Amino acid sequence: MHKWFVALLLIAASVTATAAEQAIVDRYKASCYACHGFGANGAPKTGVEADWAPRLEKGMDTLMKHTNEGFNAMPPKGLCFNCSDDEFKALIEYMATPQS
Ligand code: HEC
Repeated sequence: MHKWFVALLLIAASVTATAAEQAIVDRYKASCYACHGFGANGAPKTGVEADWAPRLEKGMDTLMKHTNEGFNAMPPKGLCFNCSDDEFKALIEYMATPQS
């Protein structure tokens, strides 16, 4: 009985995580990908650690500020005007993570 309950909880947790991840990937494809997918105009390229390391060094607060307000050729909100701050954070982490 107890084992089943734990197993169900684990299944529920992994399904939720996958759905949340998929939502971020969808957001990414709809906006950030246009520039970060190819490193257009000097945008740090998705999954390229060397591109993102110097950005992450600025700290998440600065990156969030630059995402919301724009930064050089990076447009305000990365053109995702209905993205939340939590989604921006997840998008930055997604892009800064080497893709397998
Ligand atoms: C129209 C092209 C474009 C789109 C769309 C775009 N970016 Fe960018 N982004 C850039 C460019 C270009 C830079 C590099 C700016 C520089 O360093 O001069 C950049 C840099 C960044 C940085 C680093 C800022 C820093 O302080 O170093 C973050 C974080 C970022 N983008 C997040 C995002 C997110 C999140 C999205 C999607 C919601 C997104 N971008 C969509 C072009 C874009």
